[in-house]
Amino acid sequence: MTKPQMKLGLFVRPCGHHIAGWRHPDAQADAGVNFPHFVDMARTAERGLFDMLFSADSHTVWTAAESAIERVHYVAWMEPYTLLSALSGFTKNIGLVCTASTTFEQPYSVARRFATLDLVSGGRAGWNVVTSGNETEALNFGDQPHAPKIERYRRAREFTEVVRALWDSWDDDAFLRDKTTGVFSDRSKMHVLDHHGEFYHVKGPLNVPRSPQGQPVIVQAGASEEGRQIAAETAEVVFTAHDSIGSARAFYADVKGRMTACGRPRENLKILPGLSVVVAPTKEEADAKFRALQDLLHPDLGVALLSRRVGFDLTKYPLDEPLPPLPENVVVSSRSEMITSWSQNAKPTLREIYTRFASSRGHFSIVGAPAQAADIMEEWFTTGACDGFNILPPFYPVGLNDFVDLLVPELQRRGLFRSAYEGRTLRENLGLPKPVSRYA
Ligand SMILES: Cc1cc2nc3c(=O)[nH]c(=O)nc-3n(C[C@H](O)[C@H](O)[C@H](O)COP(=O)(O)O)c2cc1C
Repeated sequence: MTKPQMKLGLFVRPCGHHIAGWRHPDAQADAGVNFPHFVDMARTAERGLFDMLFSADSHTVWTAAESAIERVHYVAWMEPYTLLSALSGFTKNIGLVCTASTTFEQPYSVARRFATLDLVSGGRAGWNVVTSGNETEALNFGDQPHAPKIERYRRAREFTEVVRALWDSWDDDAFLRDKTTGVFSDRSKMHVLDHHGEFYHVKGPLNVPRSPQGQPVIVQAGASEEGRQIAAETAEVVFTAHDSIGSARAFYADVKGRMTACGRPRENLKILPGLSVVVAPTKEEADAKFRALQDLLHPDLGVALLSRRVGFDLTKYPLDEPLPPLPENVVVSSRSEMITSWSQNAKPTLREIYTRFASSRGHFSIVGAPAQAADIMEEWFTTGACDGFNILPPFYPVGLNDFVDLLVPELQRRGLFRSAYEGRTLRENLGLPKPVSRYA
């Protein structure tokens, strides 16, 4: 039996994940709109044999961080679907995953877009299904308030079912293209959905043939009760945020247990927690790199982003005193609970908390030499905390280059990571089965 190997996603955030990383002298500060930069990033990730690039997205300018909006580097960026489509022409193996919202988009259009990306990229597309947690997004789609979370998740379930069914509209061999007989397609291999549900009425069929992966890979990132349940029912990759191995293990056991209850094999879903890595040849050098980043952090930005995450305005509170009691955050509960838990035993100050949050926004962080970082990743991977990681470089391009040049070889030496892509499609590399059409 071959040793299991971890899967790696690269979480693309134009200038990197440290909220002050864009200020670093070696950072590409215009990265959000610099296409050649994205090409370099994608090629470096492919050189490092990453499974996929993952681009998050929302339909708002992060107005929730209004008190420091002029300091946020990700207020404006490029629309990721167009970006990934363009990147597919510059890459050969790496998966291309981006976000589309089930709250603001329509299933027919989303199904078309991702089936097309799968065709254009030769089977490398994935869809990150989100319900859009930021209530300011609703302001850009009419005069109705943001729907409550429970309704958004109900909509997401139906939306995803419709999209997957549309992807099965045509059998793999439906297109004959027979020049002699003049018959282009086999009508018996075309399937009309005719869906009538609570939120959507969709006739079908899709006007895109079945794509190389059968269906693009379904990715999901909700952590609440409802989010975990939908992940267990439908997702094939789950992104998640944990600040300790204990909470990652509990999440992993819970979601995989729910899969068993739904009758799905556990290996058909890969759980990838976010991981911020600052790596250098020695621990001392890595610490110095990390300190240099933390020194760039402006308090207004730190407090504004923390306020957004906890759903409570902390801008008027003193920086060097403990946090006030926080109300329950009903919009995005999981990371808000994590931040509250940091205050439970010790009493860190507001400054200490935003500083901790700033480097990786609540994801686990490693600062160290390659062997130290690999030890931690190995422990998570081999003791039921994850199937791999979604890597968050603190800033580009240096953070990614360091990961690929210093840490990937160490993981490969330990047999924990591939030394060549296993297949051509994202599914093949992730070890996921090709879905059988519901009409087969
Ligand atoms: C790694 C990661 C990536 C995410 N990407 C997006 C995104 O691109 N767009 C978005 O609206 N929400 C994104 N989210 C938020 C989740 O989709 C979800 O709304 C959030 O975790 C709250 O869900 P919950 O209330 O079920 O915990 C992401 C979350 C994580 C952990």
